[in-house]
Amino acid sequence: MIDIQHHDHHDAATLRPLLLDIYAEVYKDVQDDPFASVDRFAQGLDGWSSRPGWSCVIGYDQGEAVGYAYGAPLPQGAAWWRGLITTVPSGLVEETGERTYALSELMVRLPWRGTSAAKALHDALLASRPEERATLLVEQNHPKVRALYEAWGWHKLGDLRPRMEGAPLFDAMLLPLGS
Ligand SMILES: CC(C)(COP(=O)(O)OP(=O)(O)OC[C@H]1O[C@@H](n2cnc3c(N)ncnc32)[C@H](O)[C@@H]1OP(=O)(O)O)[C@@H](O)C(=O)NCCC(=O)NCCS
Repeated sequence: MIDIQHHDHHDAATLRPLLLDIYAEVYKDVQDDPFASVDRFAQGLDGWSSRPGWSCVIGYDQGEAVGYAYGAPLPQGAAWWRGLITTVPSGLVEETGERTYALSELMVRLPWRGTSAAKALHDALLASRPEERATLLVEQNHPKVRALYEAWGWHKLGDLRPRMEGAPLFDAMLLPLGS
């Protein structure tokens, strides 16, 4: 059982060093991948955490941070869907600014893997969200992670490759909220 703290963008500057330290530890084995570098992640974190709707949960086990999750609502005309390769009815990817919460990151330090910590962070981040649904992207070469999300109720909308040079292929996932 972990303690979970909730934060918003007001806390972003204070949390930044902790979030980067945990990222560097969790992703230490893939630091030869430029997409996974700590600097690149820091840029992404700064972008996400400067959004007014950004929210973040951090889990603690006897005072020690074990992992975190964060995200923010998609704005109107969100760039998020621009890399969607699968053709879907256009209404499915229309954003109003209040429709969809994007789960950007979820990570747990190794000693707390395979416990309920990841699910607890996921559930805490999404509990009480006012949006009708959540979305996330999972790399297609991580089928076990996708299976985990499916076990948590997510389903695949389609294939998505972000419009950045060298970007990998992702499964774009959706989860209905609030039911
Ligand atoms: C995703 C995560 C939070 C899930 O934690 P968890 O519920 O405790 O589940 P586990 O860590 O046991 O992972 C489930 C399976 O997915 C695999 N997996 C997890 N992250 C992976 C990754 N980044 N790449 C490839 N496989 C991964 C695990 O090896 C495990 O496989 P196994 O069942 O054969 O042991 C945690 O694995 C994690 O922090 N991973 C690294 C960061 C990450 O990939 N986040 C998700 C981005 S969409």
